Amino acid sequence: MRTIGISTGGGDCPGLNAVIRAVVKAAIVNHGWRVLGIEDSFDGLIWPEKTRELKLDDVSGLLSRGGTILGTTNRGNPFKYKLTADGKTQDLDYSDQVIRNADALGLNGLIVAGGDGTMRICHELARKGLKLVGVPKTIDNDLAGTEITLGFDTALHTAMEAIDRIHSSAESHHRVMMVELMGREAGWIALEAGLSSGADVILIPEIPFKLEKIRDAVLAREEAGKRFTIVAVAEGISLPNELLAPELQASEVRPAALASSSSSSVAKNATVVLREAIEGCTGKETRVTVLGHTQRGGAPSPYDRVLSTRFGVAAVDLVARNEFGKMVCVQQGQISNVDIGVAAGQPRRVDPQCELVRVARSTGVCFGD
Ligand code: F6P
Repeated sequence: MRTIGISTGGGDCPGLNAVIRAVVKAAIVNHGWRVLGIEDSFDGLIWPEKTRELKLDDVSGLLSRGGTILGTTNRGNPFKYKLTADGKTQDLDYSDQVIRNADALGLNGLIVAGGDGTMRICHELARKGLKLVGVPKTIDNDLAGTEITLGFDTALHTAMEAIDRIHSSAESHHRVMMVELMGREAGWIALEAGLSSGADVILIPEIPFKLEKIRDAVLAREEAGKRFTIVAVAEGISLPNELLAPELQASEVRPAALASSSSSSVAKNATVVLREAIEGCTGKETRVTVLGHTQRGGAPSPYDRVLSTRFGVAAVDLVARNEFGKMVCVQQGQISNVDIGVAAGQPRRVDPQCELVRVARSTGVCFGD
């Protein structure tokens, strides 16, 4: 009888529990295997007391639950594990320990649901001999090698609903309402949530913008009798030079203040600066709503439940065929798989010439360019 492991890494998202459920069901029902749940990403292989057997009863009722019953972390790279002792922080390499513990636990395969950071770790561990299969998850939808990641669709629903609600308030108060969406360096959530909720201005990191274009769009709406404007802003936008502090303007490099590891705080700064600028140049009251981690919570959408189940079953199928070092994916609408090295590459960003951007432009959306 084989033993396989399942873990979840990186930021949580809706659909992770549905993957765990699918993996456990497919492994037990189809193959009669034993499944170990590895807690908190790779931490559970550094400290194997953080593993537990998952039986069918353990995954009952999981399909609709947000989050992950196994826990996760986006700070637990076993190659560079940060440990603080006596006020000093050190990067420690636990990767050999991960391999040894996977052996000691008798793992014949490990399925890891994660985003690009997790897939990079998987790629390195696979090169060290760990038998891994990846499952793509992130609300950001920016993982290379797949057309869609699980969690994205649910995040879009959450963002769209929020913007719909903000719409009525914007209209009543004749305001400019900015809604900041997650997505790190990629604008997928802002683009699609903006499109689906009828945002008038969409700002994404892939399309540099100018303040005057936003001002013109707001004032053109005013002239047409539309006294409010909805602006969907991706958290990863870079401010144009005119809005940067003078000491940052000459820099070719993305300013340090805009390149911190937590893009949420980055974006907050950029969005707040932009709010003041929009209010200043349009004379219209302007408010910001930061949706933040609400986009990562809640029950998965029907699409994400089905996708997570398809991904989980496909990952178990790869293990059954001893095809390791791969990530399951969607290509041309079909479940497929790619080398995990592809997923570990550069994140997938919005092509400014893509059909969605063209469609948005054709319906009058301003990208600020
Ligand atoms: O990658 C998912 C994501 O939610 C990003 O959209 C966001 O920038 C980041 O994680 C936030 O990370 P944390 O949970 O560490 O604040």
